[in-house]
Amino acid sequence: MSKSMLHSMRIDGSRDEWWAGLRAPIVVAPMYMVTTARLVLEAGAAGAVAVLPAHNLASSAEFDSALHDMAVAIRAFGPGQFAPWGINLVAHASNPRFADDLTIVASHRCPLVVTSVGSPRPVMDAVRAYGGRVWCDVISIEHARKAAAAGVDGLVLVCAGAGGNTGWINPIAFVKEVRKFYTGVVAVAGAITDGAQAYSLQLLGADLAYIGTPFIATDESAAANEYKDAVANGSLDDLVLSKAASGIPANLMTASLKRLGLDPANAPSLNVGSWSDSAAWSAGHGIASAGPRQSTRQLVEQMIREYVAASSSVGPVL
Ligand SMILES: Cc1cc2nc3c(=O)[nH]c(=O)nc-3n(C[C@H](O)[C@H](O)[C@H](O)COP(=O)(O)O)c2cc1C
Repeated sequence: MSKSMLHSMRIDGSRDEWWAGLRAPIVVAPMYMVTTARLVLEAGAAGAVAVLPAHNLASSAEFDSALHDMAVAIRAFGPGQFAPWGINLVAHASNPRFADDLTIVASHRCPLVVTSVGSPRPVMDAVRAYGGRVWCDVISIEHARKAAAAGVDGLVLVCAGAGGNTGWINPIAFVKEVRKFYTGVVAVAGAITDGAQAYSLQLLGADLAYIGTPFIATDESAAANEYKDAVANGSLDDLVLSKAASGIPANLMTASLKRLGLDPANAPSLNVGSWSDSAAWSAGHGIASAGPRQSTRQLVEQMIREYVAASSSVGPVL
């Protein structure tokens, strides 16, 4: 592969020290009520970036204590033996914990903060001050341009087919247009389930695959057993792009909406701010490749093997 096809994080080995411990361009995406500190620890030890939503801890005090325990566990790894890890912060006035959680993030010097919903600007000074990096998730070019202008280190392009509050843009087109104006780290989210797909995204101009759904079914996920089984055995036909839970389009499991008495075709029937405040289950379009149930470590190691096999074997087809 020519150097010009290796993007801002330089998977060729010339990337900077911050990336030490990363064994493949894989980010385990933050998932409300799913991602646990244990999941992040297992993913980081296996060689993937993993991101914990601050809001998965019930209070700022619990968040502080979880980060303390994580720091103790991570210190036991030698240099280059644990991938960079991050925290997802909802950077919006509607988040009453924002200021406290940001102070806690800074006090633990979390390597990465991924902002969602609001502008990344309010977190940048605090995180940069200790050498941390800030990525921002975006669903449109306008949004991506604003985050790029704010000077973020990375953009997460939330594309069509993503679990949770989905984007709608095709990933091929999204990466191509963003690369016209942005040279920082680009991660792609939406329906990615294996290491070969992560490699193919690098060929398209991205750096990293940002993967949620397959990790719902891991041992370390906080999802209910039934939800894990539904994801591990699911198919695309089990999903509906629906506003039924909150009025905002999200990829949801039809059976979970019906169980709540909601009509998947109609919106909104529940008075909640987000699908995640309902008891609906979300998954992305990669659901059919999300099983079997296994540990986070096994899943990351599988993806690393797939990435290495794809990157060492792909040549011209014709
Ligand atoms: C159950 C679930 C919960 C999610 N919760 C969050 C969240 O708290 N914060 C966030 O930034 N994104 C959240 N997302 C979106 C993921 O971070 C990521 O963008 C998405 O899972 C990628 O698509 P995929 O599931 O098809 O891999 C969630 C996704 C799912 C499936």
